[in-house]
Amino acid sequence: MFFSASLLSLASAVLVSAHPTSHSSESVARALPGAWHHTDDHPVHALFRRQSSGATSFPKVGSPEWSAGFPTAKPDSNQIPQAWKDALNAAVQSGKIPGNVPVSRQTAPGTNPIYDGVAHPEQQPVCSSTYKCRSDGQLWDAPNGTIGISFDDGPLPTSDGLYTFLQQNNIPSTHFFIGVNILGNPNEFTTAYQTLQADLAVHTWTHPYMTTLSNADVVAELGYTLALIYNSTNGRLARYWRPPYGDSDVRVDAIAREVFGLTTVIWNQDTEDWSIGQATGTTASAIAASFQKWLTGPKSPGLIVLEHELSAGSVGAFEAAYPVMKSNGWQPVSVAQISGLGTYQNAANSTSPVVAVSGPLAGANNGAGISSLVGAASSSSAAAASTTTAKSASKTGSAASSTASVAGGADNSNSQSGGAVAASPRSLAFFATMGALVLGACVA
Ligand SMILES: *[C@@H]1O[C@H](CO)[C@@H](O)[C@H](O)[C@H]1NC(C)=O
Ligand SMILES: *[C@@H]1O[C@H](CO)[C@@H](O)[C@H](O)[C@H]1NC(C)=O
Ligand SMILES: *[C@@H]1O[C@H](CO)[C@@H](O)[C@H](O)[C@H]1NC(C)=O
Repeated sequence: MFFSASLLSLASAVLVSAHPTSHSSESVARALPGAWHHTDDHPVHALFRRQSSGATSFPKVGSPEWSAGFPTAKPDSNQIPQAWKDALNAAVQSGKIPGNVPVSRQTAPGTNPIYDGVAHPEQQPVCSSTYKCRSDGQLWDAPNGTIGISFDDGPLPTSDGLYTFLQQNNIPSTHFFIGVNILGNPNEFTTAYQTLQADLAVHTWTHPYMTTLSNADVVAELGYTLALIYNSTNGRLARYWRPPYGDSDVRVDAIAREVFGLTTVIWNQDTEDWSIGQATGTTASAIAASFQKWLTGPKSPGLIVLEHELSAGSVGAFEAAYPVMKSNGWQPVSVAQISGLGTYQNAANSTSPVVAVSGPLAGANNGAGISSLVGAASSSSAAAASTTTAKSASKTGSAASSTASVAGGADNSNSQSGGAVAASPRSLAFFATMGALVLGACVA
């Protein structure tokens, strides 16, 4: 945003000063060779491919145009852009999405999903992260001596205090955002984008157990969130996603990676801070005791601690732990610093320029590339895509209410100690509020 804005003002300054002296601009034009730019088949275009022919600007974050193309609640995967369906089909047909991992189901709200006919979901071929199976390419640990600072479920009104604290203390961080919470809290989103050294990442559109969803529903939950972040950051494509409740498996991971180029991030310690303030929830002192134990323990592997920007209590628990991290010699890092790759797939961070993307997305949708996947209108398929999303918006109601929010929440099934964790009464209670999207009220 800063980059292109300053280029624009530079360009207009040049134009303005050139305007009164038409004579000199004519001589400049004459001095240029007939073809002063490289042709499209020149190798440089492979390195710095134009993102699209059309979308040079995006709707203002928070405006009706900005939210118009997005669903306000659980997305209907029949209505997703054709480009997403094409990319999913191509990945399935090339054998990149395993067909031998069944869709899971829950026997009761808030319980760990089960797989019919599968005795060992903690093993291949399912390798469910709910059952602590780690797949290649996922991030669970940080480098020795570092602590990954990440927050789930924002942006929310409670994020403001957290962002001030992160800014004042110069702390890198990663924020796994819920799509409908971005729609409902555009100011907090903008603050995160403009003022933090932060990775803006994906926590799905409506916070479901992802392994319980069909392939197409997985695509919808990820795609809309990526597209909204893309349209709100001048075309930056998020690189990381965290599955709600830590619930992913080989199938869901493959869809995230092959269709959207996403890396899955879990955690190795859990504060359970989502439940703070609830009747049977954890407490500030319990979280402080956990941090004391982790931060005075071994420095290998490094920590990735599950935290939330859900409530003043969860934010306060982080702020209280921060001096303990420092005094015990831990280095706070963001997920991008852990992975060693950039914050975005097509930009090093929120201020560095957007460049061509390589990897799965570069060739997605028969070479049309990421622009059509994330919805920037540049081709006939993207035009079809916006028609489709507009239809889905009118189906689900009008433009997003400015107070839309999802409570997010109980990412609680993956503490490091112990095996598969049975759902606690706590998570059941939480799920009661999660059962439906909460529009018009902030539950946390
Ligand atoms: C994203 O922004 C572009 C450019 O304004 C627009 O064409 C596209 O429809 C937007 N995407 C969605 C899903 O609204
Ligand atoms: C991290 O620490 C462990 C245990 O001390 C050590 O074996 C390992 O080599 C360290 N890793 C790196 C990259 O230094
Ligand atoms: C963003 O990335 C650029 C490299 O493209 C780097 O020079 C700059 O320091 C980074 N900014 C921050 C805030 O990390």
